[in-house]
Amino acid sequence: MSVSLQVNGKSVSVDAADDTPLLWVLRDELKLTGTKYGCGISQCGACTVLADGAPIRAC
Ligand code: FES
Repeated sequence: MSVSLQVNGKSVSVDAADDTPLLWVLRDELKLTGTKYGCGISQCGACTVLADGAPIRAC
């Protein structure tokens, strides 16, 4: 599935399964490795990103 999104002000399009967590789209598809994997269960906050100005867990 092709998905279009804005990342750091740039429009990007990636092919990913619709159940792929945003974290892996950012890290594996877009090579944006600043977003870290920690617990993987929305508890530690290591994967936090801003979506429309609000913090969300990307895992
Ligand atoms: S990896 Fe811990 S909250 Fe996402």
